[in-house]
Amino acid sequence: MSPYLIPADRDRLGRSDRPLTVVADGVSVPGVHGQTLATVLLAAGRDQWRTARDGGRRGVFCGIGVCFDCVATVNGVPDVRLCRRPARDGDTIISQSRAERSER
Ligand code: FES
Repeated sequence: MSPYLIPADRDRLGRSDRPLTVVADGVSVPGVHGQTLATVLLAAGRDQWRTARDGGRRGVFCGIGVCFDCVATVNGVPDVRLCRRPARDGDTIISQSRAERSER
């Protein structure tokens, strides 16, 4: 597998980008079908969306669903791993904070 993006007009399999839009903390972010929610955010230049208990900012660490560093609330469901969740048009992502939870 090549790490390089194949332009849609040169893709031998005929794949073409199908755009989608997600909303992350109230901001519309464009992506394409086939991306995970984490890759949509990373491609938009956003690499942190969770606050750890010690106040540290988190985003993708392992990228394969093991570390849970990338969790956020998606469509009202908390603790969704964005590196594993395929992006769907209209998804709403809200950043999470462990600091807030430890105060409860
Ligand atoms: S980055 Fe490790 S579970 Fe998502």
